[in-house]
Amino acid sequence: MSVDTLTIPTQRAETSRISEVDFNNLQFGKTFSDHMFMVDYKDGAWQEPQVVPYGNMSLSPATSSLHYGQALFEGMKAYKDKNGDILLFRPLANLQRLNKSAERLCMPELPEDLFMQGLEQLLKLDKDWVPTQEGSSLYIRPVMFATDDYIGVRASLTYRFLIITCPVGKYYDKPVKVAVEPHYVRSAEGGAGYAKAAGNYAAALLPSRKMQEKGYDQLIWTDAKEHKYVEESGTMNVMFVIDDVLVTPSLSTSILHGVTRDSVLQVAKDLGYKVEERKVAVDEVIEAQKAGKLKEAFGTGTAAIISQIALIHHDGTDYELPAVEGREISNRVAEELNKIRTGQAPDTHNWVHKVSL
Ligand code: COI
Repeated sequence: MSVDTLTIPTQRAETSRISEVDFNNLQFGKTFSDHMFMVDYKDGAWQEPQVVPYGNMSLSPATSSLHYGQALFEGMKAYKDKNGDILLFRPLANLQRLNKSAERLCMPELPEDLFMQGLEQLLKLDKDWVPTQEGSSLYIRPVMFATDDYIGVRASLTYRFLIITCPVGKYYDKPVKVAVEPHYVRSAEGGAGYAKAAGNYAAALLPSRKMQEKGYDQLIWTDAKEHKYVEESGTMNVMFVIDDVLVTPSLSTSILHGVTRDSVLQVAKDLGYKVEERKVAVDEVIEAQKAGKLKEAFGTGTAAIISQIALIHHDGTDYELPAVEGREISNRVAEELNKIRTGQAPDTHNWVHKVSL
């Protein structure tokens, strides 16, 4: 390994693994780029960051995040424009949410310059890993976790922050079937549902598996008090088009503050569609379907961007939704968002950050 003179001390991988990758058949989250960014927190401060070859880490069996889940992550994407420049989509919005999650989980704030420098340098080094195939991108996974080797319950005094990246294709290859969850909850008001806390995802696994055993791909989470209002769908925020209005549950402490959610709402408004953020009752959605007024339903998240819902199961009945091809709002918004992210449409909200190569 050689150490070179990039801003952040960098150990380059001796050989790249890129020739082993079939960029036309990328499975989400399985292929990792050559390098990762890493910085440790101790003695009340972030230490010197470094970029190193992607690889295993050695941890104490007492590492506190393994025991008590003091861990968070983020998800964001980078694209190549037609000139080969690398465009990061809304990195500062992700950093803002990362720091909100950190606050909720009693973890230290990550400074903007550290985050942006780390991203820039990592992407500069692994620029060839950003795919250009239609529908592909480089998924970027920042993650922060407690590293004290101490099994007493308290906020850790030490942390590690990493950024790893993986070239990805589509997250779902077809519209999903979802079922309204009548029993389990993802988060209650006052919980950590708005944060990207690792434990939120662990607790969602069993309910999701149970729904999958019944033949559904994902579930629709409902509120913790009454199971009456829609919260999210699977690992995504959820939206509906009822009577030509784009409707989505308003943000609360139990709903993830999705960056894609925010981007979809903004683009829909920019395109002239009516948007409502409010409580959405399950009954309202089902009644709208019965009356032929439910035109569209979809999840929004960084991984899938827009994941179309083909069918909603509720209380013993499957409700089919209109064909995806005819869904005007989600298709138009997805197309417009894709153009913005890849530099083919004006970036009127300053969402795109060009990496200086
Ligand atoms: C996202 O879609 O943004 C997610 O967080 C899903 C991820 C857990 C794979």
